[in-house]
Amino acid sequence: MSDLRLSDPVTLISSDSFTPDEIARIEVVAPALRAGTKEAREALPADQRASIKAIANKGHRPIDGAQMDLFPNLKLIAQFGVGYDAIDVAAATARGIKVTNTPDVLNEDVADLALAMMLGWARHIPQGDAWVRDGTWASGRELPLNRKMSGAKVGIAGMGRIGRAIADRLAAFNMEVHYCSRGEKDTPGWTYHADVVALAAAVDWLVVAVVGGDSTRGYVSRAAIEALGPQGVVINIARGTCIDEEALIEALQQGKIAGAGLDVFYNEPHVDARLIAMDNVLLQPHQASSTVETRRDMSMAQCANLAAFFAGEALITPVN
Ligand code: 8YV
Repeated sequence: MSDLRLSDPVTLISSDSFTPDEIARIEVVAPALRAGTKEAREALPADQRASIKAIANKGHRPIDGAQMDLFPNLKLIAQFGVGYDAIDVAAATARGIKVTNTPDVLNEDVADLALAMMLGWARHIPQGDAWVRDGTWASGRELPLNRKMSGAKVGIAGMGRIGRAIADRLAAFNMEVHYCSRGEKDTPGWTYHADVVALAAAVDWLVVAVVGGDSTRGYVSRAAIEALGPQGVVINIARGTCIDEEALIEALQQGKIAGAGLDVFYNEPHVDARLIAMDNVLLQPHQASSTVETRRDMSMAQCANLAAFFAGEALITPVN
């Protein structure tokens, strides 16, 4: 490293989805190089790869051990997002590479979108908007009656920080809150269930707020989906992998459950055509954290970790 010049890039920006503002913040911390795809990173000359000490990552494309090995002096992967399931954390740890994320700052917005999808689904808001715009209402037809959400029974799968923010909102809608989690939590009298099938059997709305990654792959199983019953609605703001998507699609098609509101998918941004074809499914483009305010805060949280790393200080939000 002795021939490293001060101006050599030390941070790799590993995604093309960063906005200009987010890139500018990363570049303020330290000189950075952009290589938004695996192929672009593999094509970098060896001396440029050797200068990289940190990766600023965003999005959901995998970063595995082989990707890490392209950068022999890599010591930090700073993820933009609370979820870090795209990063092979075990491979990072084995190489002495730290991983950070951006928790907390997005809790409120993610919870808001969960509520918006519930209300949007229950009150047919997308259909009502179309009804007004296409002149159906003006022609004298009224929107068919929709469904009351307030007061219904809701189950939150995952009572972490985001699950809690969702539950607090739903309690204000006088909903009967049930939840499952790794352990029982201190709540204002909400009902704990040890597993997701029992949770689903007790409620009509099931909101998925568990972490992504291998530990929760298919967590909302076929049995859980079917336990929800014909009035059941599944809301997912976590990861597509957290639900058995095939079982969900079949249950929706066969009327075993009433509907779904989904912000995340198995193969996003490519959404299964069968989901797109069903009008009892409300679809969103993985946008739960996508407000100007929260994305700025996530960017600042990512950069705070980068800055701490380059200053030799303790990382703010390490995950390993
Ligand atoms: C993404 C998310 O970070 O925080 C997460 O885990 O899924 C999102 O907020 C965002 O879509 C950028 O990839």
